[in-house]
This record gives sequence, C-alpha cells and structure tokens, in this order.
Amino acid sequence: MSDGTQYFDIPGPKSRELLGRRQQFVARGVGSTMNVFAAKADGAIIEDVDGNRYIDFAGGIGVMNIGHTRPEVTQAIAEQAAKFTHTCFSVMMYEPYVALAERIVNIAPGDFPKKALFLNSGAEAVENAVKIARYATGRPAIIVFDNAFHGRTLMTMTMTAKVKPYKYRFGPFAPEVYRAPFPYPYRMNMTAQEASEHCISELERMFSGDVAPDQVAAVVIEPVQGEGGFMIAPPGFLRALKTVCEKYGILFVADEIQSGFCRTGKMFAVEHDGVAPDLMIIAKSMGAGMPISGVVGRAEIMDAPPPGMLGGTYSGNPVACAAALAVLDLYEKEDYAARSREIGLVATERFLSLQERFPFVGDVRGLGGMVAIELVMDRTTKEPDSHAASDILAAAHHRGLVLIKAGMYDNVIRVLVPLCVTDEQLKQGLDILEEAVTTVAQAATATSSVS
Ligand SMILES: Cc1ncc(COP(=O)(O)O)c(C=O)c1O
Repeated sequence: MSDGTQYFDIPGPKSRELLGRRQQFVARGVGSTMNVFAAKADGAIIEDVDGNRYIDFAGGIGVMNIGHTRPEVTQAIAEQAAKFTHTCFSVMMYEPYVALAERIVNIAPGDFPKKALFLNSGAEAVENAVKIARYATGRPAIIVFDNAFHGRTLMTMTMTAKVKPYKYRFGPFAPEVYRAPFPYPYRMNMTAQEASEHCISELERMFSGDVAPDQVAAVVIEPVQGEGGFMIAPPGFLRALKTVCEKYGILFVADEIQSGFCRTGKMFAVEHDGVAPDLMIIAKSMGAGMPISGVVGRAEIMDAPPPGMLGGTYSGNPVACAAALAVLDLYEKEDYAARSREIGLVATERFLSLQERFPFVGDVRGLGGMVAIELVMDRTTKEPDSHAASDILAAAHHRGLVLIKAGMYDNVIRVLVPLCVTDEQLKQGLDILEEAVTTVAQAATATSSVS
C-alpha cells in the first residue's frame, strides 16, 4: 500500500517479460496507459504481477463503481457459470435477462411504461439506440455534440468528436450525423448560463443551416462528457434541450455509459436536471467488469422495431446479467450515490487547493465523484498542457496510483475511483496525485529557469 513516499521501479521483471510477448503478439493499435500487468484486485486496490499495489483512480475507465471482486458479484458469476454460460437469448430465453430488464426499467428515470434490451459494449448499445430511434421516428439524422465520445464502431466513431486517436484514417464515416456545441464554460469564456443559452440557440440555428428538424430522429448527449474531459451539462441545459426535442418530435437520448450508476452522486446524471430521457444508454458500472450494456426507454419507442430486428449472439449474456443483478443489489443496499458525493467533495477541495498553488491547473470541475482538473500552459490563453498531464500520470503510476487522462487535448486528469474506496485510500490517492502534480510543476520551473 502506498504511503505517498514509495517509488515503484515499473515495469517490474514479470511485467517486462509480458510486455515483450504483448509486443510480439498483440496489435499495437490497442493502447495501454500503464506498462504493467494486473495480477489481482480488491475494492479500490489493484496489484500487478510484480507485487506492486496501486490505488485505482480509474476503475477500468468508470466500470468498477462498486469496486473490484465484490464477493456477492463473484459468487453470482460463479453460480450462473455453473448452470449455463450461453444459450443465446434469441434462441432460448433465460430468467436473468428478464429480471435485469425489470430492475433496469424500475430504476431508469421516467414515470411512464419502459422496456429494456441488453448488448455487450457501450458502443453496441449506442448503435442500438440509434437503430431504435430511427425506426421509431422514420427519420435518418442524429445530432451529437462537440467533445462527444460514443464509441469506436463505425456509427459511434462518427458520433465521437475527437479525431486522434478515434477517427483518423478510419473514414469514410456514417452519414446523417450532425454536431452541435456542448456548453464548455471554461473554454467558451462564458458563464455556465451563457454557455447553455448559446448552445441552445446554436442548435436552433442548425435547424435552418444544417438539417431540418423533421429529419432528426434523436439528439444523443452525455449529461457529463466523459472522454471529452468531464464537461458537465450546466443546470437547466438538459431540460432546455429536452424542450427543443419535444417541440420538433425529436427523441432525447442520454448516453449514461460513463456518468451512470451513482458516479455523479445520483443513480443517473440526468436526474440532476430532473429529465427523463426517451431512451437511455447504459454500460460500464452496471456489470462490474462483465461485458454488458443496455438501452432502456419509453415502451412504445423500444417496441417500434418488430421481433427479430434487435439482438446479437452474446447480447445480454446470462453470466453478465447475473453479475449486473448482483451489482444492482449492492447499489440498492449501500448508498453509493451519497458516497460519490462525499468523494467528489474531498477530491474537489484538494483540486481547488492545487489550482491555488499551481498556475497550470486551469480548471477544476466535477459532479459528485466524477471530478477532473484541466491543465494549461497559461491561464489566460488556456493553451492545453498535455505534456504536464502525461508527466503527472507517469509520476502517479510510479508512486502507486492508477490514473488516466481525458479531454479533447489530452490535458484533463480525471477521477473514476471505485466508490467503495475507503477514506484512507482516497486520502492516500490524493496525496500521491498532489505529489505527482508538485513534482511535475517543480520540474517545469527548473527547466524554465535553466532556459
Ligand atoms: C459516454 C460513453 N459512451 C460510449 C462509450 C463506449 O463504450 P464501450 O467502450 O464499452 O464501447 C464510452 C466509453 O468510454 C463512453 O464513456
């Protein structure tokens, strides 16, 4: 366990050996933030194959909200695996799928009849939400936002905003995807309110300049943008957006893949704005690492495509459904939303103190436990400092903290720590992060005084 003074010489010998094999046999396009290999994990701690123990501030990119290897989940997985692992729901159905649909329908926002379907990955769920929205409305166009991330398949890559590493030379892209601005007060040099109003009026402008509203099936939005850099839809923005959608018969689709399941201090981030999406896309922290995702929404929209038009061989796999049911039990029994808010407060306080001390910490933002800092070369020009972010990550990894970046300019450091993290672990993790930031700031000062 880290006490903030340790320094891991990583990759250790076992990781180095595995790296050699990885380089020989694994396609290099599959990136990895850290150059070590996991051996085991528990709660908010991951141990690598050389015995180095890290506090996990990444949660496998927002997947492990309930923490690693919770016995209730492991047991549910083992029990279902011992019964059967696959029949294909499209061939012979099984109860865990139906039970999970019932549970998800009951926790999804909206006081109206709902239905759900399950898929494997986040991107696949986004693809299915688009298919359902198009079928239900008979319209082709989809509106997405600046800084959006929706996945790496053809349609979701098209919907994603960032060129490198997600889109470059992977085109041509899918047609009928239009992009609207997302409120980003820090970079728009506006208040949250001004940014919201600007984005809503730009959307209205798009309806005469880019696409007729009666051709738009859905607006797909992340209530808190994840990979884009943790930009939060300001209060009232989602409601205003929903009103615009209602005016034109456009479906409001929330991509809660990263923001869902208590990450922002509520079960789903849209709840902060009191909005019930027509369709909601879920994945990541619903299965504690088992590949499962879903679309849930208004029954009449979900039922639009006739039998046989949705599904997939592995979609809603029984072992993954069993895991998700056990995970939902834990969300119900233990107040992860409250814990997320506590974590958010502690992390934000620390980040604000870093912002006071270090000019390169340009912005601190967050909603519940989904918190981040944005690094800049200069507070006035806001020129992004991706090098500082990379250096901070490396310094943190060497000190025993799993840490990842985000942002359109790779200059945002984000926290997706498992919400089961203890107070002590959280403090240690933040201590390491602070030490990493301090080290990088000192190195930058030393370099600039030499040159
Ligand atoms: C908001 C959002 N949508 C979609 C995806 C894609 O999910 P997956 O990587 O499971 O395909 C992600 C993954 O990071 C995400 O954060």
